[in-house]
Amino acid sequence: MTMEHRIVYFSPAGTTRKVAEAIGDFLRRRGQSALLLDLARLRNAAASFAAQTQPYCLWLGSPVYCDHAVPLLEDFVGSLPRLGGFAVPFVTWGAVTSGLALPEMAGGLSTRGFTVLGAAKVMAEHSSLWQSSNPLAAGRPDAGDLAQMEELVERVLAKIAGGGAEPLSAERLDYLSPQLRAQSAAKSLAGIKAMQPPVAANEQLCTRCGQCAEVCPVAAIRLDPFPVIDDSCILCRQCTRHCPAGAYPYDGKTVETRILGMAGQSDEVKETQIFV
Ligand SMILES: Cc1cc2nc3c(=O)[nH]c(=O)nc-3n(C[C@H](O)[C@H](O)[C@H](O)COP(=O)(O)O)c2cc1C
Repeated sequence: MTMEHRIVYFSPAGTTRKVAEAIGDFLRRRGQSALLLDLARLRNAAASFAAQTQPYCLWLGSPVYCDHAVPLLEDFVGSLPRLGGFAVPFVTWGAVTSGLALPEMAGGLSTRGFTVLGAAKVMAEHSSLWQSSNPLAAGRPDAGDLAQMEELVERVLAKIAGGGAEPLSAERLDYLSPQLRAQSAAKSLAGIKAMQPPVAANEQLCTRCGQCAEVCPVAAIRLDPFPVIDDSCILCRQCTRHCPAGAYPYDGKTVETRILGMAGQSDEVKETQIFV
């Protein structure tokens, strides 16, 4: 049975995109139609779903940010028409903890009327550690991770072909220890933002080239005449990473120490896992 597959993702540093593209390739190799939608480019992506009249299978990918999916993804799910259809959420995470991102995405999709058929959490290089010589999950996702995505695609298609399309039970995604679950529930991107000085360019170094505004995946930066960053900033730090003048201060060493400390405390199995 062929059905339309829509792969919607958000990927500031590119690893979620890599997984999304691999899923698209695996689906097409099996004769399926697969359309990829990047939420950073298509800000109003949900609108393109409004005209949809046939049920489809939605593959939805987000990086884990502070133990949850990126808020933009949650807004996207909330604005989808209640058409029904199938869904497969997937997250990439940097070997600290995947937190509640995957169960929350699955729950949101179910609330919107989707039947969640499968899910995945994929190890991916930690995008806050680009200055480190050996970042957590360096080089991931790799061929082994993508082979698991191929298995996920096969098993989801087999479920759809089988007709019954049995939903993934919510208990399968209840994999965190109670301690970690409580910690994750108390954590949020908004909370972390409130504890830090806002991301800002040093005007002595900034050349007003506009590169930061160009690479910002949430369009949070405008030049006036120096970069002004609004509240939609998600701390992805693409501005910092791509600034040719090094105008965005970033203490990579301190960030690394903090993140390694959190990773050491997390008892979550640091591996890619699929759930069907
Ligand atoms: C602001 C921020 C918060 C993050 N929070 C987490 C986290 O809670 N747990 C984790 O394992 N990785 C975390 N990461 C790492 C990302 O989840 C991981 O690198 C992901 O693959 C990035 O996806 P992308 O390459 O598509 O942007 C965080 C990264 C950033 C920038």
